[in-house]
Amino acid sequence: MTTGSADTLTAVINLDLPGPTISRHIYGHFAEHLGRCIYGGFYVGEDSEIPNEGGIRLDVVEALRALRIPNLRWPGGCFADEYHWRDGIGPREERARTVNSHWGDVVEDNSFGTHEFMQLCELLGAEPYINGNVGSGTVREMSEWVEYLTRADDSPMAALRRANGRDEPWQLSFFGIGNEAWGCGGNMTAPQYTHLARQYATYVRNHGEKPVYKIAAGANVDDYGWTESLMKSLSGLGGAHAQHTHVQGLSLHYYTHSGPWEDKGDATRFDDEAYYVTMKRARRMEELVRGHAAVMDSYDPERTVGLVIDEWGTWWNVEEGTNPGFLYQQNTLRDALVASVHFDTFHRFADRVAMANIAQTVNVLQAMILTDPDSGALVLTPSYHVFEMNTGHHDANSLPVGIKGTVPTREVEGSEVSLFSASASTKDGTALISLSNLDASSARTVVLDLRGRTVTGHSARLLSAPTLQTHNTPEQPDAVSPVAHTGIREHAHGLEVDLPAHSYVTVQLQLG
Ligand code: AHR
Repeated sequence: MTTGSADTLTAVINLDLPGPTISRHIYGHFAEHLGRCIYGGFYVGEDSEIPNEGGIRLDVVEALRALRIPNLRWPGGCFADEYHWRDGIGPREERARTVNSHWGDVVEDNSFGTHEFMQLCELLGAEPYINGNVGSGTVREMSEWVEYLTRADDSPMAALRRANGRDEPWQLSFFGIGNEAWGCGGNMTAPQYTHLARQYATYVRNHGEKPVYKIAAGANVDDYGWTESLMKSLSGLGGAHAQHTHVQGLSLHYYTHSGPWEDKGDATRFDDEAYYVTMKRARRMEELVRGHAAVMDSYDPERTVGLVIDEWGTWWNVEEGTNPGFLYQQNTLRDALVASVHFDTFHRFADRVAMANIAQTVNVLQAMILTDPDSGALVLTPSYHVFEMNTGHHDANSLPVGIKGTVPTREVEGSEVSLFSASASTKDGTALISLSNLDASSARTVVLDLRGRTVTGHSARLLSAPTLQTHNTPEQPDAVSPVAHTGIREHAHGLEVDLPAHSYVTVQLQLG
């Protein structure tokens, strides 16, 4: 047992002061008709040699079930605002062929549609988050989609669903009122979209017992005016019909890259400078959540409207030789650390962040799973492992983490960036502590000053690798994967944990 020196980094955690619940939905996912996310990723078709159920890859489902995916967003993204749901129902061979103009300008055969998506959610045990079409669709089209999905009686859309082989209505948890309305979703101004959102959301009816949680297409990065416009207008709604008109959430999109938009940086070939710029930009999520939450607080002090960060993650230049419109990128230990610091922010703002969706689950952007287009081999990425290591935070109560001592920092593009990040939560007589050492080259030791409850047992897991560029491949699938961490000792105040350079560690406590 050791005691800390004056400049020891100490994380003080009051185990008996549970804060707001961290919704499991912040661990949500996103599957767009983009590149090989749906086709080749989730869906291979019933005739594939890859084991599947109704065309859905069973190895992908099995790997994702370990993450306890709480919700899955579909069909986009930008694709959502050019998707017409009737193209994707009925016998597959009769389905319309359309053009996916946003992503690769490829022909979409619509073989994966509403029924396939709902089956995928059932296989994953995930709640569906469907994003509606405001940009090029009609109010009636959106309204009828929801009726088709959720109505039990013999209404026209329920009858159509039955004719297509599904008797029982599905439960639709979340519905997006358009996507990126300020950009690919129609290039609208904030007032223009705000008016439309009120109108479209009105006709997303609750046909089933469970009300649909409606999400307005929110801001891009730091466009606080957009959030203000939505909040002002939405808080003006009320009275007897409020439940039909309100949206329950506003979205926010923010991606991390180390270069400018035109040259975002390479996924695997980067130096320390690009790494630290990446970390600075990843940590910007905290500033954005704080900023948007402040605007929301001024209209909604009770925090009834959720901030839904339904697109986040790294966005690098595509891998050489791949279709630029398919957004296929590798995923290294750096991506894993981007994920871990995002989750720390989401945990800290658990009373406002209702949901978040990594972009995207398979073969696109910061994916959990990469599949080989030729062999079909499946690889779990370093980011996957952070999601898996964090399952204990799902629906746990957030615990504030106070930091004592000198936090290591580094100057990046003119400001100091903290190289340490932590968050904690508690549930069911346990606590889970997340610790990220973002220093590229120096190890650190942190003391966990554990107060308020007796700790009867502990264990730790470590995710790291020799270099930040390390990634998993079919040949080396476990180059970055979690191992039991032995660098943890008892300490006068609780525990002392070694954090290797560029590492993510979780500490699990049993509480008496
Ligand atoms: O996730 C890729 C794209 O990024 C989405 O389609 C769009 O909403 C965003 O710009």
